[in-house]
Amino acid sequence: MIAPENDKPTILIVEDETGPRNALKMILRPFYDLHAVENAQAALQLLKEQPVDLVTLDLKLPDRPGVELLRELKLEHEGLEVIIITGYGSLKSAMDGLRYGAAGYLLKPFNVTELITLIKQTLAKKQRLDRLRHCLRRQPDLREADTDLAVAWEQLRHQYSRAGAAQPGDSRFGQYAPVVGFLSDVLEVSNRELFSHSQRVSFYSTQLGNHLPLSEIERMSLTLGAWLHDIGMIGIGGQIPGKTGPLEEGLAEGNHRHTDLGTRILLPFALPAEVSQIIAYHHELFDGSGYPEGLQGDGIPLFARIVSIGQRFDEMTASPPPQASVSRDEAMKQLQAQAGTRFDPELVELFAQVVREGTASFAPFAPVPGPATTP
Ligand SMILES: [Fe+2]
Repeated sequence: MIAPENDKPTILIVEDETGPRNALKMILRPFYDLHAVENAQAALQLLKEQPVDLVTLDLKLPDRPGVELLRELKLEHEGLEVIIITGYGSLKSAMDGLRYGAAGYLLKPFNVTELITLIKQTLAKKQRLDRLRHCLRRQPDLREADTDLAVAWEQLRHQYSRAGAAQPGDSRFGQYAPVVGFLSDVLEVSNRELFSHSQRVSFYSTQLGNHLPLSEIERMSLTLGAWLHDIGMIGIGGQIPGKTGPLEEGLAEGNHRHTDLGTRILLPFALPAEVSQIIAYHHELFDGSGYPEGLQGDGIPLFARIVSIGQRFDEMTASPPPQASVSRDEAMKQLQAQAGTRFDPELVELFAQVVREGTASFAPFAPVPGPATTP
């Protein structure tokens, strides 16, 4: 629901300590309608009774871990944005919070200018995503495999632009930046977990690509293709292969269609050919046992072989609860055990170098390629 333009947005402060709670109230009162509660239960109760646009959330609450409350808020309240405001001791949890859909975080004692800037940016993003949700509801054809997907998606983009919702996109993507901005928003409103998975796989693939002699345009195509690799999942309900159980379950018949749907969805946007290759072939396996065509070895496009490794690494290290994730070292061991069968052995060794160098550790904190989410 989009609030009328001249209404003040409503913010709910969830904070058990009196000092920070009063400070937030004092700072925000001139600009926003405010509610303030001291614990998770009161927050959930208030959200049942009152429309709220944005929550500022302290992660250390008396009755429940803040990250757990964040997950519930994001699952139960479509369009509700959350900003984490917490102490330095909870920095890791704050980072985890980004994965579960927090728009950003601030550490106490917070800087007032940063607080106001982050809230303004987040509310602007919320308005943009609300408009996109409205457009998506009016376009049921987007999820119908039998319809002309390219036409339906082109229409969606047109409506999104006409509603004044467009974001400029990331300038790293040059002429493709507006399309990237649009697709970033579509991924975010369609499936938060898919959005985060896409960001991380793009990050890992880019890191691996940095060890190869690629041109700037090729690097951009790899980053972009890796980020869009599962966009076809939107067309079949948004489940991520490998995220719903063991890898083999992820390869279930229904999910096989997402590579074809993904390439069809992107047809109207005239992205580089390498992007389409990644989307079409990222489930091919080195020994020919993958899909959709059973390509083998070097017959699989290079960038698809890279993304295949990046996505498997992420499936193993960032499975959402209740599935257990494994450590990065253990995931790397499993990739190496499948080098030459599932994965390109030379690329696996290069990726092992990426993991050893530690650059992969920064993945959750390096959003690619959507708008910045942290101050
Ligand atoms: Fe996939």
